[in-house]
Amino acid sequence: MKGVILAGGLGSRLHPLTKITNKHLLPVHDQPMIYYPIRTLINAGIEDIMIVTGGNSAGDFLRLLGNGKDFGLKHLNYTYQEGEGGIADALSLVEHFADDESICVVLGDNIIEGNVRDAAREYEQQGKGAKILLKKVSDPQRFGVPEIDGNKVLRIEEKPADPKSDFAVIGIYFYDSTVFDIIKTLVPSGRGELEITDVNNHYINRGEMTWNELEGWWTDAGTFESLLRASNMVAKSGANKI
Ligand code: G1P
Repeated sequence: MKGVILAGGLGSRLHPLTKITNKHLLPVHDQPMIYYPIRTLINAGIEDIMIVTGGNSAGDFLRLLGNGKDFGLKHLNYTYQEGEGGIADALSLVEHFADDESICVVLGDNIIEGNVRDAAREYEQQGKGAKILLKKVSDPQRFGVPEIDGNKVLRIEEKPADPKSDFAVIGIYFYDSTVFDIIKTLVPSGRGELEITDVNNHYINRGEMTWNELEGWWTDAGTFESLLRASNMVAKSGANKI
């Protein structure tokens, strides 16, 4: 399995912090945000990694990370997303990198305390389709929210006013190589982006989606409130160490 970190976007919810730099280079407690998703992949046993960047300061990723030596990597791959086409648009750029293998996709502003190694193993045994990870939250309206029936996800709604559960779909996803064909069929949402939730609903409609509940804390870091929370959580209990 290969790993993909989506670290593009304009970070407009964090203006003016992101006016001249990329959101994923901002500090979360004592480290740049991008360090955390890199460790999420390495801790899951995934070392062949592509970083999709975009917007401001794209070259600074290379200056900061190089070939990933500080993480024990021999090599890192980079690509650049033009404009703000959304998460699924960014993902479409890695088709050649995935080269028919399955992928673990991590949103660059998602930080976890623990490890997704078991979920990665379970997904490999699943053999095809997709897997999402869920976490109970107090403010599901901010996220993709699943409607669940036992171990089945019936549907995911993006930022619903009336959430069907108190779970958020976190930004760590497992996909087989058909994900790129799915993305080609998508149309932009109301916010003008190709939505990852639409990708996930395709897999659900095909009966090929599984889910696990994530253990340990999780937060995104793309708003002032969640960026502060992420820093506080890392300061208090540490995040995923290698
Ligand atoms: C994105 C996804 C959403 C998911 C969230 C996790 O939201 O669209 O489904 O729950 O990441 O961080 P965004 O950060 O683009 O608002």
